[in-house]
Amino acid sequence: MTTNPLTEGERLRAAPPPTALVVFGGSGDLAHRKIVPALYNLELNNMLPQGFAMLGVSRTKFTDEDYRRDMRKAVEEFSRTQPVEDAVWDAFASRLFYEPGSTSEPDTFRRIGERLDAFDEDLGTSGNRIFYLSTLPRLFPEIINGLGDARIGGRRYRQGASRVVVEKPFGHDLRSALELADLVNEVFDERDVFRIDHYLGKESVQNIIALRFANGIFEPVWNHHYVDHVELTVAESIGIEHRGAFYESAGTIRDIIQNHALQVLALIAMEPPATFEPEDVRNEKAKVLKAVHRLHPEEVDVDVVRGQYGPGWVDGTEVVGYRSEQNVAPDSVTDTYVAARLTIDNWRWARTPFYLRTGKRLPKRVTEVAVQFKTAPHLPFGGEANDGLEPNAIIMRIQPDEGITLKFAAKVPGSVMAVRSVNMDFSYDTAFANDLPDAYERLLLDVMLGDPTLFPRRDEVEQAWQIVQPILDRWAADQAGLHFYESGTWGPEAGEQLIARHSPGRHWRRP
Ligand code: BG6
Repeated sequence: MTTNPLTEGERLRAAPPPTALVVFGGSGDLAHRKIVPALYNLELNNMLPQGFAMLGVSRTKFTDEDYRRDMRKAVEEFSRTQPVEDAVWDAFASRLFYEPGSTSEPDTFRRIGERLDAFDEDLGTSGNRIFYLSTLPRLFPEIINGLGDARIGGRRYRQGASRVVVEKPFGHDLRSALELADLVNEVFDERDVFRIDHYLGKESVQNIIALRFANGIFEPVWNHHYVDHVELTVAESIGIEHRGAFYESAGTIRDIIQNHALQVLALIAMEPPATFEPEDVRNEKAKVLKAVHRLHPEEVDVDVVRGQYGPGWVDGTEVVGYRSEQNVAPDSVTDTYVAARLTIDNWRWARTPFYLRTGKRLPKRVTEVAVQFKTAPHLPFGGEANDGLEPNAIIMRIQPDEGITLKFAAKVPGSVMAVRSVNMDFSYDTAFANDLPDAYERLLLDVMLGDPTLFPRRDEVEQAWQIVQPILDRWAADQAGLHFYESGTWGPEAGEQLIARHSPGRHWRRP
């Protein structure tokens, strides 16, 4: 048998124990696009437990058969592997069920309980239960209470493990986040709460930890002595799609900065954990988030830029401005772009700016972190020899084209000594054989295994809200500072000025 050298060293994990998964919001967008395609791919790779069932719960009046038909279409459209394999689908569909009902009615929870008991009996799910909240956030409290009151999940349920998975946003602001956390912890122990931030499930995000802590050469320079600044870009070319109502109440600051961006920042900036045990990793992340400087109102005015897209062209298509999107107020001041300068008040990062920028309707979809180093203290080559030389940088390409680039100087071939910046590249595509699994595959597997390493802990979420809250407060008090940008551009001019303010000549990378 020939072996594929690119897969050498890959380790397989233990199969998860028998489990039933209840998805509230089972006929919703996330179930179609992410949850069910991820489960199908786990089935395809033999990673679902033997005893498994998924129960979708929503108000839509589907039968089990209707639901299976609908989800088959979703998998055909959204699965990363195509075409859908009939035999695998049939095996998966036989473990897929649906219960229509409103979460405001206690009887819905009684019926769910009955179906779960039947799964234990017929499919060997052994009393282990995962409840996935993928509904509108305003329904979270009644679902959590419904589970507790019906004793089908949480502390008062004793027939097996029971866990709850909470989709972001975890609250609307600091106060509501604390209230939600209290409510969840009244019913479920913190160790059974899994808050999903799907960025942490991305291979390229986890690779930040590998790059930093599996290599000896980067850590000594990973600090304010050597790093000039860090840039994190989360750019999307899509608009808000059909999510006008949600976006109006969230904005980019809650949708991306409070969670995805700050979680990535935490991985870039945290201290090395002693072990890769969940609490060791989460302690370090919480610690660095705690050290992020809380902006004063007047600092928000200069260090944070709020933008909103106007009409324009993206990928050759003319698109409307945010205010003309469905379910958006014609005079909305909601942010679809945020650029911010944050600093971290600790020994490692004192005075090193972390620039974050994220926006909808930018020219392309790209997420990357660039750690830009200080220039060499002295260049001996003189004058023109250095033209075209940029400082060293490590660019972590989170998506697409996942990988890492190291930018360094090399001699230009020829009879004179001239140097120029060149790139050294690592790409997942060529280094490893397998397609990258979707983040939800990894995270669903982790919930089933009870491994919380890649899920933000309560205090991390709280720290992230503490960072964002002064910005929300300032924006609520001052509606004036909104900058418009044309769709298909890299955001408002104010975003460019932000990065240059403290160091003239500094500019955002063009990914
Ligand atoms: C979600 C946001 O959490 O992340 C969306 O709600 C955004 O607005 C999405 O489009 C981006 O995810 P990804 O994996 O495509 O970068």
